[in-house]
Amino acid sequence: MKKATNSKAATLKFGSKTIELPIITGTENEQAIDIRALRKETGLITYDPGFVNTGSCESEITYIDGEKGILRYRGYDINDLAENCEFVEVAYLLVHGKLPAPKQKEAFSKHLNSHSMLHEDMRHFFGNFPDHAHPMATLSAMAVSLSSFYPELESIEQRENVDFKVTRLLSKMRTAAAFSYKKSEGHPIVQPRHDLSYCANFLNMMFWTPVNGYEPDPVCVKALNKLLILHADHEQNCSASVVKMVGSSDANLYASISAGICALWGPLHGGANQHVIEMLDRILRKDKGNVKKVLARAKDKSNPFRLMGIGHRVYKSYDPRAKVAKQMCKDVLAQLGVNDPLVDLAQKLEEAVLADDYFHSRNLYPNIDFYTGLTYRAMGIPTNMFTVMFAIGRIPGWIAQWLEMKADPESRIGRPRQIYTGPVKREFKPKHI
Ligand code: SDX
Repeated sequence: MKKATNSKAATLKFGSKTIELPIITGTENEQAIDIRALRKETGLITYDPGFVNTGSCESEITYIDGEKGILRYRGYDINDLAENCEFVEVAYLLVHGKLPAPKQKEAFSKHLNSHSMLHEDMRHFFGNFPDHAHPMATLSAMAVSLSSFYPELESIEQRENVDFKVTRLLSKMRTAAAFSYKKSEGHPIVQPRHDLSYCANFLNMMFWTPVNGYEPDPVCVKALNKLLILHADHEQNCSASVVKMVGSSDANLYASISAGICALWGPLHGGANQHVIEMLDRILRKDKGNVKKVLARAKDKSNPFRLMGIGHRVYKSYDPRAKVAKQMCKDVLAQLGVNDPLVDLAQKLEEAVLADDYFHSRNLYPNIDFYTGLTYRAMGIPTNMFTVMFAIGRIPGWIAQWLEMKADPESRIGRPRQIYTGPVKREFKPKHI
């Protein structure tokens, strides 16, 4: 694990105290004040709700420049990876730090296929979920139950077994996702096939039926690879931080991933892709496509409504993933011959946002969730499965972040502090009124 370099220092004057706090500098020249000695030396803690200004770790996995709209996984630009790789290669890159050589890719793909089935007893799990259960609830339950069915994964320390463990999780979660969809449709589940690639297998498990059969469309297989790559990691986002927080207590990887799935489900995070489509559909049906009216609602501080798929904690410019997703949406719908009125509406809404000073002055641009749902929809994936697709894509990133934390000698159990503002000490009177 490379360490940030210690250079210069920041001077903090507080009361009669003056202390020097080291400045650490990363490989892309990001700088941070190292405040680990702050409380001991001054009695002070920092206050930063939502950790907007707080770095939780050093990491070699993903680099984001929010001002310039740059995203790199292990140094490779997201555009190059999305254009030239398969999802399994990027999953390998995130976990191992380098792209797989042909033999490594073959072994990794073989692992994925040989561990793609779910324990028969797990299948009955699905039977006990109500048909209307949200697939994110099922996915999270499946993730944590893997620790009961595959307890050997509890001890993930041995780096040499990482492939075995990672591919088991990556593969079984994809199968569980497809099963949860079939369950919600009341269809018989479809087992994975060893002769199909990771993405083709998923589409086959989703759409094959005894009546109609199904042949994975190469356009959809290519699109799904690209979409999963776009979602594969995003440094210390909400769900990755949850995965690491749970793992920091020495809980096992499955429990950590299960918690990450729940965090991703929120509409402010990964759940936004489902809410974008629901929002566009409402604008079309209820607002008759009047984007001016919708923007006014989004700007009205007395109204909790926010434009889904717009804005980002880190990107204060166009999310580079949204650029790829927008072009892909146009290409895939054209190749599939799908004509969706929500696409034109989305572009109209984007143009209005980019031209509006309220959004421009707050650096609010489309993010990853704005266009991805439109492509999933054209591929026949139902809206309530969009966040599941996000989760499947994000699993290698969560695992890579979790493994990096476990290997970091400086990692400790996560436990933020607070400033207490409740009642001061009150005497307890047994007959208090
Ligand atoms: C993801 O962190 C990651 O990396 C996440 C992610 C990943 O890959 O893991 O990129 C995936 O979660 C993408 C984001 C998906 N969520 C949405 O699309 C939901 C809509 N977006 C917003 O809720 C919001 O932009 C957030 C949650 C994404 C970011 O919230 P912040 O950083 O806390 O920003 P903020 O609330 O401080 O907003 C700053 C200002 C506020 O106005 P003022 O108080 O300055 O007047 O911008 C306004 C906000 O009201 N604002 C919006 C808005 N987003 C921010 N106003 C209208 N519509 C919006 N969408």
